[in-house]
Amino acid sequence: MSALLELKGMTIHFGGLIAVDNFDFQLEKGQVVALIGPNGAGKSTVFNVISGIYPPTAGKVFFNGEDITNMKPYHIKTRGIARTFQNIHLFKKLSVLDNVRIGCHCRGRTGVLGALTRLPGVKAEEKVILEKSLEVLEIVGLANKQEETANNLAYGEQRRLEIARALAAEPLLLLLDEPAAGMNPNEKKNLMEMLKRIRAMGITIMLVEHDMKFVMSISDRVDVLNYGQKIASGTPAEVQNDPLVITAYLGSQTG
Ligand SMILES: Nc1ncnc2c1ncn2[C@@H]1O[C@H](COP(=O)(O)OP(=O)(O)OP(=O)(O)O)[C@@H](O)[C@H]1O
Ligand SMILES: [Mg+2]
Repeated sequence: MSALLELKGMTIHFGGLIAVDNFDFQLEKGQVVALIGPNGAGKSTVFNVISGIYPPTAGKVFFNGEDITNMKPYHIKTRGIARTFQNIHLFKKLSVLDNVRIGCHCRGRTGVLGALTRLPGVKAEEKVILEKSLEVLEIVGLANKQEETANNLAYGEQRRLEIARALAAEPLLLLLDEPAAGMNPNEKKNLMEMLKRIRAMGITIMLVEHDMKFVMSISDRVDVLNYGQKIASGTPAEVQNDPLVITAYLGSQTG
């Protein structure tokens, strides 16, 4: 079976720093795979390369059978990869609904010019976008807050809104960078249930997360990065007991 996502020897340098070194990674359709590692290990950089923000210095990225290395972020998004960011990226002054509508944008057929000139088909498309937006707001539990300004949402709700916006693009693969960061236990529990619903919809999930309990309870596989190198890959139980992983985390706490 061919992988949905495959990174082959992916390497990225920032000046003299090797942020990710010769990283091989595979993700099958329907899986939930976590990428973990100490601060600065290169996890967000991996997401930035997959989503086209940085071109890799070496190596290849394949998605759904296509070479997407060096493609622009917008084109990668239209192929079916959506993401959230480690720090919340929302249009804080817009409503919850408008934030999600923006996420639907890449599926639009008539485009900005069509919308401005009110071409036929625009109205029908707006209706589809509205329906899709309401559907994803339902999935993340924010349907009752659609008119609220994004800024007025609680922190955990803002993080869920980001996921809603990513879902609005109807992705095959969802990249989540520390989705549980800063959440209280109740918010984490809601997030976990939500991710299970998203997975049940057939969406593949790649997750970067520091909360080990969270990672271990949702992931099929966990890969571990340390100083840009993959040091372990396995089931949550295997990785948790791996001496190299334990040393990497202890080193990051004491050093
Ligand atoms: N645009 C950039 N320019 C220069 N260096 C960068 C850039 N982006 C990341 N780095 C460096 O690359 C390394 C990996 O950073 P990255 O953000 O991927 O780590 P991370 O594993 O996501 O860490 P954290 O858990 O703290 O989010 C770090 O040393 C970081 O300073
Ligand atoms: Mg990061």
